[in-house]
Parts: sequence; C-alpha cells; structure tokens
Amino acid sequence: MIFPSSFLLQDNVFVTKGHMTLDNDDKKWLSDRCGAAVRFDEPMARCTSLGVGGPAGALVCPTRIDLLVELVDYCRHRQITYHVIGGGTNLLVGDKGVEGIVVSLKSLPKKISVHERENGDAGLLAATAGVRTHSLCRFAVKRGLGGLGFAVGIPGTVGGAIAMNAGTRGHSMADVVERIEVICPDGLRQTVFRGRLSFSYRKLSFDCPQPVSKGAAIILSARFSLRRSDPERLAAAAKRALNARRQTQPPEWGSAGCFFKNPGGEKSAGELIEQAGLKGKSIGNARVSEKHANFLINAGGATAEDFIALIDQVRETVATAFGIELEPEVKIIGT
Ligand code: EPU
Repeated sequence: MIFPSSFLLQDNVFVTKGHMTLDNDDKKWLSDRCGAAVRFDEPMARCTSLGVGGPAGALVCPTRIDLLVELVDYCRHRQITYHVIGGGTNLLVGDKGVEGIVVSLKSLPKKISVHERENGDAGLLAATAGVRTHSLCRFAVKRGLGGLGFAVGIPGTVGGAIAMNAGTRGHSMADVVERIEVICPDGLRQTVFRGRLSFSYRKLSFDCPQPVSKGAAIILSARFSLRRSDPERLAAAAKRALNARRQTQPPEWGSAGCFFKNPGGEKSAGELIEQAGLKGKSIGNARVSEKHANFLINAGGATAEDFIALIDQVRETVATAFGIELEPEVKIIGT
C-alpha cells in the first residue's frame, strides 16, 4: 500500500514491523545472497559500545549499497522485521536479543568528498552514512571547512548522528546538513533537501518528495554546508573541544554516551543525576559514571538487566527529587 511518506527516525535505529522469526527459507536466502556479510545468532554485545545484548536472529553488514537495497526489498516482500543500526554507540540491546534482522551500516563503503560552491565563503562536503562522525570532522578541519567542530569526538557514524540530530548544548547536525539521500522501504532512493528535513532535539523527521510505502527509511549519504575558514584556527578549536570532552567524559568504550536527553530546563541531565546523589551508584556491573553522571558505564560484565534496573532507579530518584522525568537518549531494542 502506498502512503504519503513521513518518517520519524528514532535515534540511530530504524525499525520496520513485520514477523520476527526467520524461517529456513529466509536463512537460506540470507546465506546465498549475503555470504560472509551475514551472521546468525550473533551476540549484539559485540556490536555495541555498551557491550551488552543477546543474539540477533541475523546480523547483516552489507558491503555494497545494491545488497542493502536487495535486503530491504526482501524484508518488505517477506514482511520481516528489521532494525538498522549505525555504529552501535547509542544502543542498548536486551539480554534475550533481537528477533528478525539487524542491518549494520558499518561495512558500507566510506567516502568523503568536497564539492565546490560558487560562493567563495561556503564549502560543501559529502559523506556516506557509514563514515565515522569523528573522521568527517577531522577531514573538514584539514580542508579548512568550519561548522562541524561541535561534533569532534562524537562517537558513531554520520548516518546515526544525522538520524538522532546528535550535538552539544549549542549545536547539532541540524546546523550543517544540506540534504540526505535515503532508501525508502520500497527500495526507492530519494534525495531529501533541507526544506523537507524537520530536526528537533535529538530527532529527525522528514517528508520524501515522492510517496512511498510506509516503513523505515535508511540514510545512505549526506551533504553538509560548511564555511571556509583557516585550517589552523579550526584545528586549535577542535583540539580544545576534544580535550574538554576528555576531561569531563569517561572514555567511549563501555558506555553509550549521554544516556538521557537534557530535560530542557536550567539543569542538564548530568547535573540532576549528580545532585540526586547518584554518581557512582551501581546495580550489578552497570554504574553511573563518577566523571559525568549522565554516562552509565559497563564496569565489566554488566547485563542489559543491570542497565534497565539502573535506568529505572535513576529516573525514579530524579523524579522524586526534582519532579522531572528523564527520557533516554539511547535507543533500547530487543527483550
Ligand atoms: N554537570 C554536572 N555533573 C555531571 C555532568 C555535568 O554538574 O556529572 C554539569 C556540567 O558542569 C555543566 C552541565 O552539567 O555545567 C552540562 O554538562 P556538559 O557540558 O558535559 O554537557 P551535557 O549537556 O551533559 C551535552 C551532550 C553531550 C555532548 C556535550 C558536549 C546531551 C544529552 N549531551 O552534554 O553529548 O558531548 O554536551 O558539550 O545533549 C551524547 O549525546 O551522547 C553526548 C555525550
């Protein structure tokens, strides 16, 4: 059925609903078509920076766009549920795992290119979705293109960062994205320009120019509109931002970045959690970081159950102390 197309991309995970369990025909198709790019019953703990999560029915890491298009077509035709993940750096997967298919974009070709603009002050960069956000920032700095400095040190991929409108307090991907190219659930590739992209705090929704089947769209690439600037000045600013991040945040591995969205008032989620007395609080091996209270870290061998219990405790304690409901920024999937 054809619907007018309006998508809400939730964080870096897109889900299309269908049936969950893969039968033998599905497994055969996946093995035949995807070869080494598919692994069955793959523990998701290996694919997420939080390091927890049970097996995916099938984890597919396409190395070519045409294989990704074919896979999306197959899932639509067979009505199989699929989740699409970027770098797995903003993701909590349940201990029992995820049924259906998890599609990881991390093995797709990584390409960054510069596109000249006639206006001498502006520069356009294009990047494929699987490029690491940090690599894109470094590339822009070297080429003397400013505007992405806020994203230095943000973990994960460009596709994930756009889908969740990643950013800091003052800046986000919304400031620089000029257009995206997506695959719609029916396999149609479309370019969506800035005017049709609706960015809000840690969210992106958009309308496709042409009507398409309802379901999840996948970002394939993006173009960024940046300002020409002095590379040395940009490099110094990027170094300062990275140092500030290192001083205030625990290392990337073993966490999913900031766990909760900032609630929008005067105080950040980190301040609220610290002032509720929760720094260092542990349940099992999941712990509220001593360094930044909005980071929940895997102190070694934590389970998703540990994290879920800790999330509940943090939310309840902050709600009781301040009357504020914290909402996870991290996407939670599986059971
Ligand atoms: N603060 C505390 N205690 C803490 C942590 C922070 O009092 O344990 C205070 C800080 O002193 C500061 C304020 O809270 O006054 C804000 O802290 P910070 O500058 O670290 O910023 P944030 O709002 O906690 C946001 C993004 C981060 C991004 C930083 C960069 C969100 C949810 N988080 O954090 O993004 O790295 O700005 O400045 O918007 C992420 O999205 O995963 C992420 C880490």
